[in-house]
Amino acid sequence: MTILTIKNWLDPVLRKKGAPVENIDEAIVKLTEDMFETTLDAKGAGLAANQVGMAHNLFVVDMGIQKGEHDLVTLINPVITAMEGEELAEEGCLSIPEVFATVKRALHVEIKAIDINGNDVRYEAEGFMARAFQHEMDHLNGSLFWDNLGKARRDLLKRKFKKKQKEMVE
Ligand code: NI
Repeated sequence: MTILTIKNWLDPVLRKKGAPVENIDEAIVKLTEDMFETTLDAKGAGLAANQVGMAHNLFVVDMGIQKGEHDLVTLINPVITAMEGEELAEEGCLSIPEVFATVKRALHVEIKAIDINGNDVRYEAEGFMARAFQHEMDHLNGSLFWDNLGKARRDLLKRKFKKKQKEMVE
């Protein structure tokens, strides 16, 4: 498996919508395995395909992270089928490193997708995992978590990002 380069928000691929996956071929399987490795390496909760430069309609998520375990699963052509409640919590993104903001999300979601073997799967999630699903769905729509905030807050976060980038170079 290969650790892939995670693109940051300045890369236009982050604005691309995921193209539906028609065929789970070897290239898709290899991509998701590499995305597992990349997520673990980056200590992330999930990763969408366009974050590694491949705008396919799929993401991976670590369902074990809250238990301090790893249980990485792939959701292909996912659809959120139910959303309930609201929760404010801090959120970050591997494509906007070192920047965090409070984002309002549904507390509870149900999602359906196809797994890497081509089987239908459904997940129900609450709190942190529900947030992770919503965050990854945003990526598949070419959206980023800070798009859910007002322009003033987003501009502030962009300035923070630029400052952090400078610090990392120095
Ligand atoms: Ni993200």
